[in-house]
Amino acid sequence: MKGLILSGGKGTRLYPLTYTRAKQLIPVANKPVLFRVIEMIRDAGIDEIGIVIGDTGPEIREAVGNGDRWGVKISYIPQDAPLGLAHAVKISRDFLGDDRFVMFLGDNVIEGGISPLIEQFATSEWNGQIVLKEVPDPQHFGVAELDGDGRIKQLIEKPEDPPSNLALVGIYMFDSNVFEAVDAIKPSWRGELEITDAIQWLVAHDEYRVYPYVHKGWWIDTGKPTDMLDANAFVLEELTPRIEGTVDAESLVDHRVTVEAGAEIVNSIVRGPSIIGKHTRIVNSFVGPFTSIYHDVTVHDSELERCIVLEHSQIVNVSSRLQDCIIGRYASIEQNGRKPKALRMNLGDYSKLWLP
Ligand code: G1P
Repeated sequence: MKGLILSGGKGTRLYPLTYTRAKQLIPVANKPVLFRVIEMIRDAGIDEIGIVIGDTGPEIREAVGNGDRWGVKISYIPQDAPLGLAHAVKISRDFLGDDRFVMFLGDNVIEGGISPLIEQFATSEWNGQIVLKEVPDPQHFGVAELDGDGRIKQLIEKPEDPPSNLALVGIYMFDSNVFEAVDAIKPSWRGELEITDAIQWLVAHDEYRVYPYVHKGWWIDTGKPTDMLDANAFVLEELTPRIEGTVDAESLVDHRVTVEAGAEIVNSIVRGPSIIGKHTRIVNSFVGPFTSIYHDVTVHDSELERCIVLEHSQIVNVSSRLQDCIIGRYASIEQNGRKPKALRMNLGDYSKLWLP
C-alpha cells in the first residue's frame, strides 16, 4: 500500500502567516501538521509516500526532504494548478501504479488511532473506504448520506441542504479502480474535479464497494486561525510530557508541560498542557494552558495563554495577557514606558489586531 498526501493550496484564510510559509508547515504543538500526517501514514506500515505540491512546492521539499528522517521514501508530484482532489489522484497515477493507497489532506489534524484503519484496508477486498465525522456545519464539507444498514446511499460536495451531518474527513482509501472514476467525472461548479464526485461514481456502480467509517474522536481541517488554535489544544492534550531543557528553582512547571532540549524556564510559571521549544527562554513570565512556543523564542516579563508562537519571536514586557494569539516568525511584541503613550505597529498585510 502507498500513501498520497495533498499539500498544495495557498491557505488564504491563514494570511498573513501563509504569505511566507506553506500552511501545512505551520506547527501544531511544535510539529508541522504535514509531519504529523507523514507519521500517521508511516505508523500504518506504509513506506512509500507521494506528496502532491503546488506553488509552495520548493518550501515543502526543503522541509520534508526525501523522507529518511521517518524511514520512508518520499516522491513529489507537482500539480500545475489547484484543479481538485480528484485531479491530484489523476496526476499521481504513475506513482501509485496498481497499488492500494491512502490519500490524506496535508492540512487535516485528526485524533491518533487512525493507522489501524489504514492497515485494515490494505488487506481488505474493498475498493474504497472513507472516513466520516459528525459536524455541526456539514454544508462546508463533502457530505455522506447512509442507509439504514450503514451503507453509503449518496455523497454530495458542499450541499446547500445537507442530507446528514456526516462530513467527509480528508482521509480516503482506494484501489486502482478510482482511476476509472476520476476519468469519468466532470469539474464541479467551482471548477474542480471533486474526489467526492469520484467516490459517488464508485458508489453508483454496483460492482464497486466503498465502506464508510465514522470517526468518533476529534478532527480539524486547519483552514482558519481558530482551527489552528483548536488543533493545537487537542494535540497538546495527546502529548506525553518530557522535560529536556532546564527549569530553575524559582519556577513552577506543571506535570503536563514539555520543555524541549536547550529551553530555559527562569522564575516563571508554566501551566500545561503546553510545550516550550528548543532554545526558547521564558523569563519572569506566565505561560498558560494550551500554548505552544516554538524554538528560539524569548518571552520576558509577559503572560500568554492558549497561543501559538512561531520561531525566533520576542515578547517582552507586555503587561496585558496575550490570549488566543498566533504570532508568526521573527515577530516582536514589546512594551516600554516611553512617551507618547501610543500604540505603534508594523503589521503585515491581512494581519488582525484586537484591542481591548
Ligand atoms: C475538501 C473536500 C471535502 C472534504 C474536506 C475535508 O474540501 O472537497 O469533501 O469534506 O476537504 O477537509 P476543500 O478543503 O477542498 O473545500
